[in-house]
Amino acid sequence: MTDAFDFTRYLASKRTVDDRALNRHVWQTLADAVESELPRDRPLRVLEVGAGIGTMVERVVEWGLFARSAFGVDYTAIDSEESNIEVARRRLAHLTSGGEAGLRVQLETANLYEFAARQENRQRFDLIIAHALLDLLHLPTALPGLLQMVRPTGLFYFSINFDGATLFLPEVDPALDGRIEALYHHSMDTRITDGQPSGDSRTGRRLFHALRACGAEVLAAGSSDWVVHSVGGAYPADEAYFLGCILHFVESTLRGHPELDAREFEEWLAMRRQQVACGELMYVAHQLDYCGRVGG
Ligand SMILES: C[S@@+](CC[C@H](N)C(=O)[O-])C[C@H]1O[C@@H](n2cnc3c(N)ncnc32)[C@H](O)[C@@H]1O
Repeated sequence: MTDAFDFTRYLASKRTVDDRALNRHVWQTLADAVESELPRDRPLRVLEVGAGIGTMVERVVEWGLFARSAFGVDYTAIDSEESNIEVARRRLAHLTSGGEAGLRVQLETANLYEFAARQENRQRFDLIIAHALLDLLHLPTALPGLLQMVRPTGLFYFSINFDGATLFLPEVDPALDGRIEALYHHSMDTRITDGQPSGDSRTGRRLFHALRACGAEVLAAGSSDWVVHSVGGAYPADEAYFLGCILHFVESTLRGHPELDAREFEEWLAMRRQQVACGELMYVAHQLDYCGRVGG
């Protein structure tokens, strides 16, 4: 990339891509369930895990998810990276210092497993949100930990779960494009973090039955593909930077891979970056959103 890679800028640049991608049927089902199923006689308790720099917090305010919650919302947002939470504190200062729009936001640097293990968090929340997170985790370990923090019959919203398709268009060398895609997905399936498996390139399709196995009921599911392309020769907002980050992830994951010819891969990256520079690259990633109810 021309600019140095900055994860918090990547998350900021992802905001407009996610806004377009989020499945509106799933969102509306969630909004209806928040209104009809959650308590109306006290503030709602909401937890967001892996909240990054807080873009989902901004979205729930802008899209009015809790607009009809008479007693407002106590919204706890955690992320394991202090640098993300620092940026979130700045972006969300108006919501952490008093609670505009009925939302009182508490930010905390915490690992979800450590947070979930605290006794006071057991069955504490009415709604749990995880956005662009579950495909980075080991589902059989993470899902029970997440759901146990929700009170019986509370709700979950798990959005932007990657599901096994990454397309860089136009195709230039279908065999090479396909090999890069397959190796990239394989790296997600074999990733180890802190000695544990962490990630799955087919999380989207696996979630439905994984949720049911935990006693949760899916109320709505639908696709939320990222689709990024230029309009009039230019990418919207900071999406050229977003595309540069995606290529950076592919490069840093596959550099030196024994099944890729190093020079061929370099040339592929240079060509894709050139396509970003002239607005030619189209990028698609297939993902699924889910919302539902935790077992009673
Ligand atoms: C792809 S980012 C998505 C961030 C944010 N939800 C968004 O979409 O802008 C995944 C986030 O999850 C956080 N994360 C990863 N593993 C975590 C864990 N075990 N506990 C808490 N946060 C975690 C990372 O630090 C990162 O900010």
